[in-house]
Amino acid sequence: MATPAQKSIEETGGVGSLKHVAIIMDGNGRWATYHNKPRSLGHKKGAEAVREAIEGAINCGVEYLTLYAFSSENWNRPADEVSDLMALLKLYLKREIKTVHKQGVRLRIIGSRERLSPDIIKMIEKAEEKTASNDRMTLVIALSYGSRDEILSATRRIATAVGAGEMSLNEITEAVFSKALWTDSIPDPDLIIRTSGEQRLSNFLLWQAAYAEFSFPQLLWPDFTKDDFKAAVEDFLGRNRRFGARP
Ligand code: FPP
Repeated sequence: MATPAQKSIEETGGVGSLKHVAIIMDGNGRWATYHNKPRSLGHKKGAEAVREAIEGAINCGVEYLTLYAFSSENWNRPADEVSDLMALLKLYLKREIKTVHKQGVRLRIIGSRERLSPDIIKMIEKAEEKTASNDRMTLVIALSYGSRDEILSATRRIATAVGAGEMSLNEITEAVFSKALWTDSIPDPDLIIRTSGEQRLSNFLLWQAAYAEFSFPQLLWPDFTKDDFKAAVEDFLGRNRRFGARP
C-alpha cells in the first residue's frame, strides 16, 4: 500500500492545519534506570526536555502545545516521587516562566486543583495571569489531570444546568460539551506524541483526541529534542486525515 510522501515544513511552507500538538512525556524512570541514576534525576532531565519541546513547537509555528506533566493516577506513586515531581514543578514555575513569558508564550494549566498545595495553586494563578496576553503560542500543562475526571465534571455541570431549567436536553451538543471541559477554547489536538515506545492514552484528552493522529518516537522523554518534535510534525504533514469522511 502506498504511503504519502513525507513533506518538510519548508516544502509545505508551514504546518498547514496543524494547530495543536499534545505530548505524553513518558520514560523518565526508564531513562534513570538505564543510566543507573535515581528516578528523581530522570524527572529532572525530563523537565529539561520540556524546553526542547517548547522550542520545537515555537520553531514549527504550532499554536498550542499541551504537556501531560502529572496525571490524576500519578498521585498513587510513592510519596517521595510525588513530592519530587511537585518540587520540580514548583521550580519550573519559578524559573522557566520568565523565559516562556519572554518568548511570548501564554500558559494555561488544566486539571483538578483539589489536591494541589496552596503555594502551587498561587504560582499557577500568577503565571497564568502574567502570560495571559501573550499570543505567540499557548502552552497547556496538564497537571493533576485525568480525562475521566474532566468528563465527569463537565457532565455534572451540564446536568446541574439542565436540572435548574437553564438548558434543555436538546441543547447538549458536542460544542456545548467541549465548552464544559477544562480545555474550553483550546482546539482538539491534531497530533499526540508519546515517547518511550508505549502506545496508549493513559486517561489523556479522551474526548478531545477523537480524530488525533499519533506518533510514537522510540526514545525516552529526557532524550527528546526539538529535532524529534520537528520529525513528528513532518511525519504528520504527510498523513491523509479524513475525519471519517470519504476523500
Ligand atoms: C513519565 O515518566 C513522566 C512523568 C510521570 C512525569 C512527567 C514530568 C516531567 C517531564 C517533568 C516535569 C514537567 C514539567 C512541565 C516541568 P515515568 O516516570 O512514568 O517513566 P517510566 O515509565 O520509564 O517509569
